[in-house]
Amino acid sequence: MAGLVGGAAAAAASLQPVPAQAAAARRRTFVQVGCGSRARMFQDAIWGPHKATSRLAAICDTNPGRLAYAARRATEAGAPAPKTYLAADFARMLSDHRPDAVIVTTPDAFHVDYIVRALDAGIDVITEKPMTTDAAKAQAILDAVKRSGRHVRVTFNYRYAPFRTQVKEMLMAGEIGDVLSVDFTWLLNTVHGADYFRRWHSNKAISGGLMVHKATHHFDLVNWWLSDVPATVDAKGKRQFYTPETARRMGLSGPHQRCRTCPEKDKCNFYLDIAADPGLKALYVDNERYDGYFRDQCVWRPEISIEDTMNVIVGYEGGATLSYSLNAFNAWEGYHVAFNGTKGRLEHSVVEQAYVAGATMAQGASDEDAVTTRIVPLRGAPRPIKVRTGEGGHGGGDAVMLADLFDPAAPEDPLLRAADERAGACSILIGIAANQCFKTGKEVKIADLVTGLRRPDLPPMPSHSQPVPMPPRVVR
Ligand SMILES: NC(=O)c1ccc[n+]([C@@H]2O[C@H](COP(=O)([O-])OP(=O)(O)OC[C@H]3O[C@@H](n4cnc5c(N)ncnc54)[C@H](O)[C@@H]3O)[C@@H](O)[C@H]2O)c1
Repeated sequence: MAGLVGGAAAAAASLQPVPAQAAAARRRTFVQVGCGSRARMFQDAIWGPHKATSRLAAICDTNPGRLAYAARRATEAGAPAPKTYLAADFARMLSDHRPDAVIVTTPDAFHVDYIVRALDAGIDVITEKPMTTDAAKAQAILDAVKRSGRHVRVTFNYRYAPFRTQVKEMLMAGEIGDVLSVDFTWLLNTVHGADYFRRWHSNKAISGGLMVHKATHHFDLVNWWLSDVPATVDAKGKRQFYTPETARRMGLSGPHQRCRTCPEKDKCNFYLDIAADPGLKALYVDNERYDGYFRDQCVWRPEISIEDTMNVIVGYEGGATLSYSLNAFNAWEGYHVAFNGTKGRLEHSVVEQAYVAGATMAQGASDEDAVTTRIVPLRGAPRPIKVRTGEGGHGGGDAVMLADLFDPAAPEDPLLRAADERAGACSILIGIAANQCFKTGKEVKIADLVTGLRRPDLPPMPSHSQPVPMPPRVVR
């Protein structure tokens, strides 16, 4: 499977098309730990478009209600119901099924335990982003990969969105020469952005904060777009919007515990009725009695430990610099990124539709005209680019990634979008370093955070030593 192991050798192994019969004979067995919202994307892929080549033998979770819900969904999809295991029986699940890979879709800080145990049992891992949440946990994964010789695939779906892939191709083709700096602004609005402050994500010990949980996607994109790795990080972060003080300034007497029991639900326009959405009800409301987890906690709670406003400067080994900002209470959702190169500037923007995780809607969807890309030469008229678009979750990236992951006949990928633990670490370490800067105010060197991190496989880019064309003379 090209996607699972990643890298050139794996890609080469997948070059030949596999006849349907042979593919069925080599049907891969997966097990999954963590059966919440995101887990469903992998389940639906295995029970749907990839059922000829993949099967989900077993699932594991701390919550028996969500296990039963996932098993019911399998039956509804016409697939055999996977065997269910409570989290305490994870090791037994591995020995009962000896899968080709474990799919890890638990909350972020719990990934490491399952990744390391699977690797040590000689089993490959497919893990959701972020690979993990702090430097010690990242080190444990790097060490386990080295010790076991097994593989970790980090599912960076953002790389696969057709319009972001197109940006990578233009940078590789040298459209703007070599990139010297990047300006990247990511905005979360008060629907999707607020949602991070209601869930486990609001606890930094579990999510690593938005610098790790969310920005891992964005830092990975820049690492991959530049084909480079980070060296230094400076950052500032604060929480100044999702606070009890803001609630009071909006005329509320809260914060309170959660939306369902909130005495001010008629006054608070951040109120979320989770029981009204069939997806949220089935996943969370119906299963609260097993673990007491509330998916609709008050966004104004004082105990929230993540930031809502973050600014980061990253120095890359190749000399480029990144200026990045993430804001979680914005007027619109999406991003602007601009690459400043020796021949000009590539500008790319996306306006995304509002989204609530776990609800019955696609995440990261955008209207076609909401994606724009243009090249602005150093001197001359801007050139608009016809953007490549896709269907489904995350701008069409999910479906392309799933095909790369589960289709044994997936073609070799010249863009090397399949990420392993090295790319997984390079992205989270920027966020982990930023979290450290928030506390100390001092620059952090990535090399001081972990040992034995090798450079990921990344496609070649225009080099900093190539001749640079003289731009046209300005006529006055
Ligand atoms: N790539 C993407 O675009 C994307 C999108 C959404 C979520 N994610 C990632 O997917 C993962 C899951 O997020 P989610 O939104 O599905 O969360 P969720 O809360 O909906 O689901 C998490 C599931 O894990 C279970 N769980 C909790 N602790 C556990 C433990 N110790 N052992 C086993 N199971 C445990 C919970 O009961 C729940 O069923 C996270 O890492 C998140 O960052 C990625």
